[in-house]
Amino acid sequence: MAADASSEPQPTATANSYFTTKTFTAFIALLAITLAFSSTFRNTFSSAFSKPAVRAMTMTTTSTSTSVPAAMKINKRPWAARGKADHGWLYSFHTFSFASYYDPRHESFGPLRVINEDRVKPGTGFGTHSHAEFLIFSYIVNGTLEHKDSMGNLENLKRGEVQFTSAGTGIRHSEYNRNTDDEVHFLQIWAKPNKRGLKPHYKTKKFSDEEKTDKLVRIMESTDRVSKGAIPLQADLSMDASILAPGKSVTHELVAEGPRKVFAQVIMSGRTQPKEGGAKIVIGDTTLAEGDGAYIDVSGPGKIELKSVGDKPAEFLLFDMGPEEK
Ligand SMILES: *[C@@H]1O[C@H](CO)[C@@H](O)[C@H](O)[C@H]1NC(C)=O
Repeated sequence: MAADASSEPQPTATANSYFTTKTFTAFIALLAITLAFSSTFRNTFSSAFSKPAVRAMTMTTTSTSTSVPAAMKINKRPWAARGKADHGWLYSFHTFSFASYYDPRHESFGPLRVINEDRVKPGTGFGTHSHAEFLIFSYIVNGTLEHKDSMGNLENLKRGEVQFTSAGTGIRHSEYNRNTDDEVHFLQIWAKPNKRGLKPHYKTKKFSDEEKTDKLVRIMESTDRVSKGAIPLQADLSMDASILAPGKSVTHELVAEGPRKVFAQVIMSGRTQPKEGGAKIVIGDTTLAEGDGAYIDVSGPGKIELKSVGDKPAEFLLFDMGPEEK
């Protein structure tokens, strides 16, 4: 084999090395030209196509959906994916792990730890139980809820009323539906306070439908911010409510700079989401119908637009919170 290889005709070898050298030189020249051309081409390509493509996307975003801060991440929490409890006397949806519902993906969001959408049958309720180290507020949607506590408060809460209890070092209370005919529908919300050992505190305030119509009304506000009319609480949490007519929009201005955890929750008009129609809102490219919620990660300063696109007014809550304190 080796003898055969060494006996190859010389001219062929010379021709081979001649062509190899020439091809190599030509290859280098071609490579240089290709690189030069392609970098020009790249620049031309990027200015001719990439930038208008980005502009086109931005235009699409603003024309087919609501205006949102550039880096907004939305993760929908569909109504039926929530934890559900049907105990007969109590029919409830849990946005976050609660009682016998546990899902490690839905434990809390910022200081927000509980959103339960509760319906309590006539003549039943939550007997006396204790709480500590939580900020607890009930947003009454329909019916009447009797609230009685160890601080001596006894009230019949009706639609529009928000009952806030800062449990602090500890309270005992009961929540009861004394009505003999109608169920009570309310959202109970818990948030973690930014200070432990607070003195227990109680406050109830009414926010009328008229006030909320086609507006965002600040219901809860951190004691670190000033908001006339809102109920103050010891957490980086603002909560607005709105009743938005079809076709109308509202704009929420993020309440602080830096990373914000925003949560939207559309309130249900019945026990299940209507198969068609009903209340709907759009945030960015995401549509939320009755009972749906959305986790929104965004950074302030910035604005979030919410538009009502259903066939009836959408009642919803909008939270704007700081990242969870570790
Ligand atoms: C409020 O409750 C009453 C009595 O249960 C019911 O007839 C009515 O449809 C409810 N309204 C809404 C908006 O859920």
